[in-house]
Amino acid sequence: MTSRPVIDDLSSFWMPFTANRQFKAAPRLIEGAKGMYYRATDGRDILDGCAGLWCVNAGHCRDEIVAAIQQQAATLDFAPTFQMGHPLAFEAASKVAAIMPDGLDRIFFTNSGSESVDTALKIALAYHRARGEGQRTRLIGRERGYHGVGFGGISVGGIAPNSKAFSGALLPSVDHLPHTHAPEHNAFTKGQPAWGAHLADELERIVALHDPSTIAAVIVEPLAGSTGVLVPPEGYLQKLREICTKHGILLIFDEVITGFGRLGKATAAEYFGVTPDLMTLAKAINNAAIPMGAVAAHRNVYDTIVNAGAVNGIELFHGYTYSAHPMAAAAAIATLDLYAGEQLFERAASKAPKFEAAAHALRDAPHVKDVRNLGMVAGIELESRDGAPGARAYEAFVKCFEAGVLVRYTSDILAFSPPLIIEDDQIEQIFSTVRKVLETVK
Ligand SMILES: Cc1ncc(COP(=O)(O)O)c(C=O)c1O
Repeated sequence: MTSRPVIDDLSSFWMPFTANRQFKAAPRLIEGAKGMYYRATDGRDILDGCAGLWCVNAGHCRDEIVAAIQQQAATLDFAPTFQMGHPLAFEAASKVAAIMPDGLDRIFFTNSGSESVDTALKIALAYHRARGEGQRTRLIGRERGYHGVGFGGISVGGIAPNSKAFSGALLPSVDHLPHTHAPEHNAFTKGQPAWGAHLADELERIVALHDPSTIAAVIVEPLAGSTGVLVPPEGYLQKLREICTKHGILLIFDEVITGFGRLGKATAAEYFGVTPDLMTLAKAINNAAIPMGAVAAHRNVYDTIVNAGAVNGIELFHGYTYSAHPMAAAAAIATLDLYAGEQLFERAASKAPKFEAAAHALRDAPHVKDVRNLGMVAGIELESRDGAPGARAYEAFVKCFEAGVLVRYTSDILAFSPPLIIEDDQIEQIFSTVRKVLETVK
């Protein structure tokens, strides 16, 4: 790995979702990566406990993906997909479709999770309009949902800090389900909590309040990642599905985090046995090697929109210059081949019990008030410091990085989602480092 000089001007880059002044005063810089490890600019290896940002499921800089991108860059750098096509776009779509739940085999490419969410919301509205129910414009999200940062995503999302500066400009017809986080009933649950399926019944109340004829779609993360690993109660997603079907409402699963093996199956939909009408994807779709996202639509949704008008008319006025970018598509094909070849989804399922045990072993560590997990995702919630919510987890995150392990934190919750190639001793290293760090955190 070649080492470049560390830059000394950090001022120009306006960093996303970052306390810029705090970071620039004490930066953490990464200059390389391989397999399970990042390489910091000070030469240290950092064990990646969160697959970058829940996205590098096959591990870093995998030779097959690197080669596919390099070759593609030299063969076809860019080609439009508006009224044109290139073979890799179709091949990548077929490969994604092949691992989706039955029926969700029409793939619309985007460049990020946020774009996938806004695309899915627009498809839902266009679908109802094509069926002659254009009055169905209301969208239902959920408290503590994270659906990216587009105006659609922050409107259906349920995180106040993400929307409060823009609150005058949110989508007008949106309502929210209650979140499912109930530590008073479910603290230290391994896997899915038994308590809470009835929270899905709130959808009936919301539907009755607005009348079903006004509602286009319900969007939820099957397992909420970004707001601190909220595992759905047993039976909850099934109920949402039943209520949506009963009222002709589309169900959208935001699988930007859960897609591509995180729970030990290709999708959370497959894991839970609940099939949505639309699914948003991104991140691990191509191991995060080139920006890419997608919406997997049920073929009935596609057919309804595509068959609605004249054969020579554009059916959906939506798309991105870089939809199915050749390099992103090449990376996706190589990644999906890698997942299949190395059986990484099955590997995730086989490592999950070890991961669960290692996470829950921290239940008696200082400050810990909850541990929760599913598949290769875990969350450890800490007691907040008086008057300083988030400060304790931030300190733990920094100290873990200094001790050679990358974890993620959100408010006072530490989140873990390592690459699926992780070995047992690396699972141990992550959680033993966290324990040691918590023993030093105020
Ligand atoms: C569930 C979910 N949806 C959407 C997004 C947004 O994805 P992106 O940051 O690629 O726009 C994320 C990102 O973490 C996510 O977790």
